[in-house]
Amino acid sequence: MQIFIDTADLDEIREAYSWGIVDGVTTNPSLIKKAVDRRPGLSMRDYIRDICRSVEGPVSLEVKGVSTEQMVQEAEMLYERFNPVNGNVVVKVPVSTAMEDGQPLFEGIRAIKTLEGRGIPTNATLVMTAEQALMAAKAGATYASPFLGRVDDYLRTKLDIAFDKSDYYDPLCARHLEEQTWEEEASGAELYDRLMRSDISDNGIYSGVDLVDSIVTIYDAYGFDTQVIAASVRNARQAREVAEMGVDIATLPFHVIEDMLTHPKTLEGMQLFTRDVVPEYEELFE
Ligand code: E4P
Repeated sequence: MQIFIDTADLDEIREAYSWGIVDGVTTNPSLIKKAVDRRPGLSMRDYIRDICRSVEGPVSLEVKGVSTEQMVQEAEMLYERFNPVNGNVVVKVPVSTAMEDGQPLFEGIRAIKTLEGRGIPTNATLVMTAEQALMAAKAGATYASPFLGRVDDYLRTKLDIAFDKSDYYDPLCARHLEEQTWEEEASGAELYDRLMRSDISDNGIYSGVDLVDSIVTIYDAYGFDTQVIAASVRNARQAREVAEMGVDIATLPFHVIEDMLTHPKTLEGMQLFTRDVVPEYEELFE
């Protein structure tokens, strides 16, 4: 599994890249906003050039328009301006740009198709369903980014479960909740009806990790070249679970990468080993 770092903070990018385990970077307008808030007055062009120079691997930069025409124009501008820096620009295009019912749905898909046809690699972003991921792959996206953490947020909010952003959401618990229905006395038709209305899943998807699994299964079934980037990953356990299913890439915030190397017994083990270094052993290193 490749690891991308999900940040626009240059210090985090450089630090994580120096660890030797980072293969790329993903940004979005909210992450850029955070970086700008920390460095008021920065030159955005120079800053993005520095990000591109800091890694030998894809750097996703997102368009801001909502129509196919705007997005294609912005993507071409981003690619022409920043790809020459290090040859690693990928343009992030929302899988759908509609913000309200009734707005056009396929602007992003058309932009992806056009850009890939012009040799500009795209990363279909804001993917919340496997159906959207299927559309992105059919349009020829180089990458598709399911936002697994936001799907968990959606499910937990629907179920009225309080949570912190980095809390793990366990789909097994959700399934148990659903199964409880079976323990009640009711006819098959009543149970079926109750289950169908139980609203515990998002149209049959029980968690963000479940969504990534569904997309990996579909892409494997048809041999799509589109690579799956598990995005909106909030904790180390989710990173492990998407790795177990063989996802191509996980894009991880700095703190999740750090969490992946943390265990209390590792800390304790280091204290014990360090305490037990006897002078005879110390001599070896002199
Ligand atoms: C993906 O590329 C996005 O930048 C990101 O993963 C979104 O994460 P969030 O849902 O934690 O904001």
